Amino acid sequence: MDLLVATHNPGKMREFRALLASLPAQILFPPDLGLMVEVVEDGATYVENARIKAEAYVRAIGGRDGIAPLVLADDSGLEVDALGGAPGIHSARYTSGSDTDRLSALLARLEEVPWERRTARFRCVVVIVTPRGDLHIAEGSCEGVIATEPAGEGGFGYDPLFYLPEFGCTMAELPVRAKNQISHRARAVRAALPLLRRLLAAGG
Ligand code: IMP
Repeated sequence: MDLLVATHNPGKMREFRALLASLPAQILFPPDLGLMVEVVEDGATYVENARIKAEAYVRAIGGRDGIAPLVLADDSGLEVDALGGAPGIHSARYTSGSDTDRLSALLARLEEVPWERRTARFRCVVVIVTPRGDLHIAEGSCEGVIATEPAGEGGFGYDPLFYLPEFGCTMAELPVRAKNQISHRARAVRAALPLLRRLLAAGG
């Protein structure tokens, strides 16, 4: 049985490929199936948005003969305590433009905020939908502090501003393997792995 990971985000694709590598399944992404699904993420929570994505892909695959993979979608975001949890589920669209523009916007909004009040977390919800339509949910989070300037070239999104006190560097400065041990996405996937193994063994 195959596992379709419903994302086009290159950063997420890289991470999911590594995080799911131990599974006895072929890990597919939408381009592998020629799928281009427009998804409107208008849910009010990470769970709703992840579910909207996963179910949109299940529907898109529904019409294709002989293809019935498990579908996994994630929704994730950065929650900054001094901003009341923003950008949260709006992280990808916090401002228009590039990731770099969003880093600048976040820094501008935190200009007056001292180090001890710059606490934040990444959160990730993973939703898995079986070909029968059964739905399963797993979550992970990772605590950090919003740095005063970006550092590092790794990862994607807000990683250059996400400082990890226990490592003394930002998420973007961590080696890939380390991010894939401690990140919100790594934790959500780790929580889902036993279930994924069972579903794959049972054929969904
Ligand atoms: P979505 O889950 O596709 O709605 O996008 C989540 C957004 O949150 C991404 O576009 C990033 O801006 C941010 N984000 C999620 N996970 C990470 C991460 O691991 N590192 C940095 N930014 C992330």
